[in-house]
Amino acid sequence: TKGIQVAIDGPASAGKSTVAKLVAKRFNYVYCDTGAMYRVVTLAALRKGLSMDDTDQIVRLAQQIKISFQPGDPEQRVFLDGDEVTQDIRQGQIDNNVSAVAAIPAVRTEMTRQQREIAQNGGIVMDGRDIGTTVLPNAPVKIFMVATAYERARRRYVENKAKGIATASLEELQKEIELRDKKDSTRAVSPLTQAPDATRLDTTNLTIDQVVDEISKIIKKTQ
Ligand code: C5P
Repeated sequence: TKGIQVAIDGPASAGKSTVAKLVAKRFNYVYCDTGAMYRVVTLAALRKGLSMDDTDQIVRLAQQIKISFQPGDPEQRVFLDGDEVTQDIRQGQIDNNVSAVAAIPAVRTEMTRQQREIAQNGGIVMDGRDIGTTVLPNAPVKIFMVATAYERARRRYVENKAKGIATASLEELQKEIELRDKKDSTRAVSPLTQAPDATRLDTTNLTIDQVVDEISKIIKKTQ
């Protein structure tokens, strides 16, 4: 069998990418981090010195740049026009501007087009905000992962430290996460929302392994 489409959505730092990577590995599927794609557009715009209000220029840029991953790359590196930007897209400046870029309808149209192309052959775990609702509405497995804002801030803090990324305080991270959730949930186009047919998983008190097992069970039942 060639594998199915697995959509994993949820708010910032709910553990989507960690879990999605492990699930992909278990089933030998490709993993695609769609948040990374919006982050690359944001990085490209900031590098060009564009203002976040300059919608037309940002849209043009989103259509021009080449965002790429290497399927099956265990390090999940991300490239902008062939240059590796894996670390650059995780900086605080990107966190703080990405929701504005992701709210631009024509940017979403372009990313959605690229994401559908990546997912078209199945055997994919794709994570983001609108995968189950908009990008892959027919995905046979849809997961909506949530956790409290405090727990998500704590996880991001620990992760930043481990990666050696300069990190804001726990309180600041929690505020940043809550603000980003609000922007992502209230935007006009493809807001963060649970698809009616998605399985909701509250991961606040679950280990990574427990979440991976839970999703794996759902995939096995569906495959
Ligand atoms: O998942 P991550 O936190 O890296 O996503 C960064 C941002 O990209 C989100 O806060 C959201 O604004 C945007 N995003 C989106 N749709 C997706 C994935 C991410 O709007 N499918």
